[in-house]
Amino acid sequence: MDLYIDTASLDEIKQAADMGVLDGVTTNPSLIAKEGVDYGKRLAEICEVVEGPVSAEVIATDYAGMITEGRHHAKIADNIVIKLPCTIDGLKACKTLSDEGSRTNLTLCFQPLQALMVAKAGAYLVSPFIGRLDDIAQDGMELIGQIREIYDNYGLPTKILAASIRHPLHFVQCALAGADVATVPFKVITQVMHHPLTDNGLEKFLADYNKAFGQ
Ligand code: G3P
Repeated sequence: MDLYIDTASLDEIKQAADMGVLDGVTTNPSLIAKEGVDYGKRLAEICEVVEGPVSAEVIATDYAGMITEGRHHAKIADNIVIKLPCTIDGLKACKTLSDEGSRTNLTLCFQPLQALMVAKAGAYLVSPFIGRLDDIAQDGMELIGQIREIYDNYGLPTKILAASIRHPLHFVQCALAGADVATVPFKVITQVMHHPLTDNGLEKFLADYNKAFGQ
């Protein structure tokens, strides 16, 4: 499974890249607004740090606007993936931009037929939002399983990018359900490498060694 970081913070992206495990980045308008930076400038900065796919979301909600913005984003760097919403206009823009050779990420996916439709329109990635389904008492992870089954039934090449991951349990469940990619907040990326038995074990190894041989 590929690992993307879900952030627009350059500092977090650099730290995750330094860990040697980062395959790509996803951003969205909320994450950019949180950073308070120029969108295009920040995307260019991210693409200098990360060679893998960097999702850049359009703000426009109409087809023509999405195409204009998408083409603009695509010029920033070769690894830009144009992020479009799972709407009818988004579907049409996905088809046009995919036919032009751009890679697309269809976001805000909440039901399996949206995923089937965007795959038919040539989407490179589809982003089901796990945490936001859990928020309304629906099983977000079930959606990942359903999309996996549909894509496997028909050999659809669109990659499942599990998004809105809030904690390590989401992360592991996505891996078990066969998501191709998980986009994970920096906090969760660091959380998964902490285990009390690892910390205690390391402490004991060092204490035993120092007792025998001195500091
Ligand atoms: O990748 C999508 C993500 O940024 C949304 O996460 O936690 O706001 O639902 P969240």
